[in-house]
Amino acid sequence: MRNYYIAGNWKMHMTRSEAAELARTLVAQLKDGEHKYLVAPSFTLIETVAPIVKGSNIGLGAQNMAAEPQGAHTGEVSVLQLKDLGVDTVILGHSERRHVYKEDDALVNAKVKLALQHGFEVILCVGELLEEREAGRAEAVCEGQVVKGLEGVSDLSRVVIAYEPVWAIGTGKTATPEDADAIHAYIRKVIEKTYGAGAAEKIVIQYGGSVKPENAAQLMAKENIDGALVGGAALKADSFVPIAKFGR
Ligand code: PGA
Repeated sequence: MRNYYIAGNWKMHMTRSEAAELARTLVAQLKDGEHKYLVAPSFTLIETVAPIVKGSNIGLGAQNMAAEPQGAHTGEVSVLQLKDLGVDTVILGHSERRHVYKEDDALVNAKVKLALQHGFEVILCVGELLEEREAGRAEAVCEGQVVKGLEGVSDLSRVVIAYEPVWAIGTGKTATPEDADAIHAYIRKVIEKTYGAGAAEKIVIQYGGSVKPENAAQLMAKENIDGALVGGAALKADSFVPIAKFGR
């Protein structure tokens, strides 16, 4: 039985005072929540949010990290620095990192391995562009990103996959629950091929891309959808809490 996992990706939003207020509200409003939760603020907000979520049922995530543990990497943030702040999870391979900042599968894979080596949980994001979907390549693209992103990783117990069709992110267009579930099922098969049926059954696969209070329950009702990675709707407690407590 997989547990639902709802994560908020705050992207490049909020100041420290805004982040503190949102984190405090979420801690109060989700304390009776039944699922696993995470917030991933910008690097500059992490130190503010960390003491607020500490000891709560909300984990602390980062949205990216460098592929090297330290050194001459101007503008990058290291896994050791994130660990020092109490971060336990890192989102890697988000489509904005892949498509805007040109991160390729090899770089994402190096980051995944480094994060796991340091005891982090990883949310590995995968997803196809609209033209790839229209060309019938959605499954192949996701398969490639999963396989290459996890190359050399033998234990998936700290790995979560987020399927985020790029055309659905921040656009208001959501994949239908049926279309999303079909890709989730396919990703589970891909995992099964390399890691076996037990690992495939256990791995949590979140859906991301315009998840809202209005569509969360229908998405989560699907057999292979185990949670959500939420962007825009994670910026306000009024929209994140109903997603986090979907169905209640
Ligand atoms: P969105 O973003 O919910 O605003 O579409 C999701 C994401 O990018 O993780």
